Amino acid sequence: MNKLETQLQDALAKRFGSAVDVPADLPGLDSLLRIVEQSSQRRWADTAVPPELTRLLAACALCAPTKSYLQQADIVDVRDTAQRAALTALTPSMPWLADAPALLVFCGNGRRFKRLFERAGQAFSNDHLDSFFNATVDASLVMMNFINAAAAVGLVSCPISLLRNQADKLAQILALPERVVPVAGLCIGYPAAPTALNPRLPLAATFHTDRIGAVDDDPAVDDFDARYIAARAEQSGGAAPPRAWSTERLHQYSASQRDDWGRFVRAQGFDLR
Ligand SMILES: Cc1cc2nc3c(=O)[nH]c(=O)nc-3n(C[C@H](O)[C@H](O)[C@H](O)COP(=O)(O)O)c2cc1C
Repeated sequence: MNKLETQLQDALAKRFGSAVDVPADLPGLDSLLRIVEQSSQRRWADTAVPPELTRLLAACALCAPTKSYLQQADIVDVRDTAQRAALTALTPSMPWLADAPALLVFCGNGRRFKRLFERAGQAFSNDHLDSFFNATVDASLVMMNFINAAAAVGLVSCPISLLRNQADKLAQILALPERVVPVAGLCIGYPAAPTALNPRLPLAATFHTDRIGAVDDDPAVDDFDARYIAARAEQSGGAAPPRAWSTERLHQYSASQRDDWGRFVRAQGFDLR
């Protein structure tokens, strides 16, 4: 087994808690390893990320597949200091966002699609939930492409949905027109320090052949909780007794969050029938 195969297998075993076979002589292992080692990072080296670089990465990202060739993803690279400060003020619990060398916001744009019909003087007969869904899926694919493009040039990143907690203010700051909604922000920068990989649910729970079947995979969650606690204990050097993944998620979502999102999306002009 060559070095890359070993690295990939080790990283996969760390993520999933059991071995994932890597067929011999597979090309592209370096790209696979980069995907497996992708992690959200929140500490940045004091090195700028110039606008020409984010523009290049945006161009790469926007080559993602797009539903019905509608091209419903837009990216805002927030460069102006006052604009950055206004966005940072929306997320006081995340001081590392202020320090990020660059911040982008990925948006689903359902306006362009509808406008094609307006310009042609034709009725728009697709004003329903699927249109909103397709625009947000396009934006999500573009953001993931951007994350991978950034990683390829040595940058690290962290998506930020917390910005949407104050969606009206976010839309105002970014001057989002009707039928354009923010999907997530993305901080990028050069890494300040190596980051440990966060484990994932076992493949037995999330990868299926032919059909899904049983949906309540409690044993898989229990197994994952144990690995999560061990990973957190290792990451913190035993500083604090770690909680299980399921306990943390219960705590995080014990109160309703962002329950005005539907109102916001409707106010932006989407009909969610
Ligand atoms: C759509 C989306 C929104 C996210 N929003 C935030 C956020 O607001 N704040 C944050 O610290 N991390 C955010 N994250 C990062 C997740 O917390 C992170 O992916 C998760 O903890 C797993 O860690 P990993 O990416 O390092 O494997 C977001 C991730 C996604 C995909």
